[in-house]
Amino acid sequence: MTLKKIDINKIRSDFPILKREVNGKPLIYLDNGATTQKPQVVIDALVNYYTDMNANIHRGVHYLSQISTDAFEVTRRKVQGFIHASHDYEIILTKGTTESINLVAQCFGEAFISEGDEIIISAMEHHSNIVPWQMMCEAKGAVLKVIPMDSRGVLDIDIYKDMLSERTKMVAVTYVSNALGTINPVEEIIRYAHDYGAAVLLDAAQAIHHITIDVSKLDVDFLVFSGHKMYAPTGIGVLYGKEKWLNAMPPYQGGGDMIKDVTFAKTTYNELPFKFEAGTPNIEAGICLAYAIDYMTDIGLEAIKAYEDELLEYATLEILKIEGVRIIGTSEAKSSVLSFVVDGVHPYDIGVILDKLGIAVRTGHHCAQPVMDQLGIPGTVRASLAMYNTKEDIDIFIKGLQRAVDMLK
Ligand code: ALA
Repeated sequence: MTLKKIDINKIRSDFPILKREVNGKPLIYLDNGATTQKPQVVIDALVNYYTDMNANIHRGVHYLSQISTDAFEVTRRKVQGFIHASHDYEIILTKGTTESINLVAQCFGEAFISEGDEIIISAMEHHSNIVPWQMMCEAKGAVLKVIPMDSRGVLDIDIYKDMLSERTKMVAVTYVSNALGTINPVEEIIRYAHDYGAAVLLDAAQAIHHITIDVSKLDVDFLVFSGHKMYAPTGIGVLYGKEKWLNAMPPYQGGGDMIKDVTFAKTTYNELPFKFEAGTPNIEAGICLAYAIDYMTDIGLEAIKAYEDELLEYATLEILKIEGVRIIGTSEAKSSVLSFVVDGVHPYDIGVILDKLGIAVRTGHHCAQPVMDQLGIPGTVRASLAMYNTKEDIDIFIKGLQRAVDMLK
């Protein structure tokens, strides 16, 4: 099998960590769903920020503050272009996906949710797209409903359609499931929600580095994702929101930068996007996000997706040759995630043996406990792919897995 054309040798050479060994073996990094590694260009941008630019942003007339502010604002426009948002002020820079969802749950909830209103999420959400809505529903007396999924990890869209009503105010679903890899039919989900005037939030944390996303075409109301899963540092994330919602929502936190005027009697709030960006942000990570976006864009997201899809197909075929392996998440539409269990073996034990062989995977419930409960398993082993993984990585992983299974069975 020949994989589609990306310059894999060049890409691998851009990620210095891939040269290191773990436990005396070459690192095989298959935990990209948790976080991706960083290319040299991003690492250089991080070092350069502290070597040459460090200053607080949006606050100083002095030179360093100006250049740091400009670089940070470049990221906002870069994100705008990357997801095809209409305005740069619809891009709120947060700490990450979790903060972005909490912001929407709290502020949208404050502005638009009353007792008896309904919020719809899905059975395959990450805890970060469950708990903030539960907290908001509890505070507001609203009702949380859950779109069911079948044993393959596919949502039941017919039931979803029946769940929608004039009481539905928000539908918050993941684009790609972190535990199963399912790509959800987000166009349909958005269209049906809009028929009832409900807003839609898409959790794109596991999609943004694999799938081209156009928020204008999707007509999605909110889109959230994290920098660290798209080759940028931790501590920076994105909330895209339509201007009409963001303007009508109260601020998330009070503090510097989010105000226009403060007196002890009354404070007026800043305009978008700053109304939602209280306090000093993670400036260096924010600046680096622009470099990560350029890095991915130069290679081309379509090419990356085609390559990763073929790699997933190869890994899927190979893993099924191992006796006792059951893949968890068998939707036809999948991205980059190979979650599985092995009969009679605990996922954690497999993870430990693979680690001894230099192979990094994640084991457990993947912060998606309801998925595991529905499927009646304690957790899975998850290999999650990125653009720098190779067929050779998969071969070493499969060999290691066979060894682990032989030892543990
Ligand atoms: N949400 C991340 C994962 O799936 C941490 O591993």
